[in-house]
Amino acid sequence: MQREIVVCKDADALAVKAADRLIQTAEAAIRSRGKFMLALSGGSTPEKMYSLLTQPNRVSRIDWSSTYIFFGDERFVPPTDPRSNHRMAQNALLSLVPVAVDHLFPVATNAPTPAESAAVYARTLAKAFAIPESGEPPSFDLILLGLGDDGHTASLFPSASALKENRAWVTWSPPGTLPPPVDRVTFTFEVLNAARQVMFLVSGSKKAIPLQDVLEGGAGLERRPAAGVQPANGQLIWLVDKEAASLLKIKT
Ligand code: 6PG
Repeated sequence: MQREIVVCKDADALAVKAADRLIQTAEAAIRSRGKFMLALSGGSTPEKMYSLLTQPNRVSRIDWSSTYIFFGDERFVPPTDPRSNHRMAQNALLSLVPVAVDHLFPVATNAPTPAESAAVYARTLAKAFAIPESGEPPSFDLILLGLGDDGHTASLFPSASALKENRAWVTWSPPGTLPPPVDRVTFTFEVLNAARQVMFLVSGSKKAIPLQDVLEGGAGLERRPAAGVQPANGQLIWLVDKEAASLLKIKT
């Protein structure tokens, strides 16, 4: 695994860096394999980057006809609910770029239970990657992730049983201690760690302690689940702003 930590001046600089890195990763994936398999994250931090990707100078640099978009986690709410990660991505990015509807793979939250929704999403992944559901997990070209104030990532919360899932690609979780208090559907470490590239976007002073724990404090994944993201054959990029990085010893 190759790890890189990039400290940006502020949240705006972080969004610019993230958008430019995403474009480079898309170009490289499409050059080598003919398509770009991308998983978006929820939360509020990526929203700025999503908006930057819709600007004319950037939108034209992505070959949207070769881009396929998934979600690393979702809140178990209807797609019209203000808490939906899909809704946020739709408003900030997906409805504003020329991506075909059949290239979008939102989590189906109309299943009767979050567990069924997770099982359906695993089948969606297998079909989209044209791989058997019982085999090796899919390798995304890029998975975007955030870091929760409690150290969670995707919807893998501290001490949750989802942390121990080592077979399913997608699972469900009851809410953690942070809002919103709704059930989640989430990629497991199986999928996160099979990615070719994982890029964390971390901004703000509330992230300083969990970030230090994960990057330098040797925290385990039970307490700080983001520490479990270690893509064995992939690249792990931490894009963080100065406030989030304020407790780090490494200065980049
Ligand atoms: C979610 C997430 C979650 C998020 C982190 C960071 O659905 O809430 O995907 O893992 O990325 O909580 O969120 P912020 O960017 O809002 O700090």
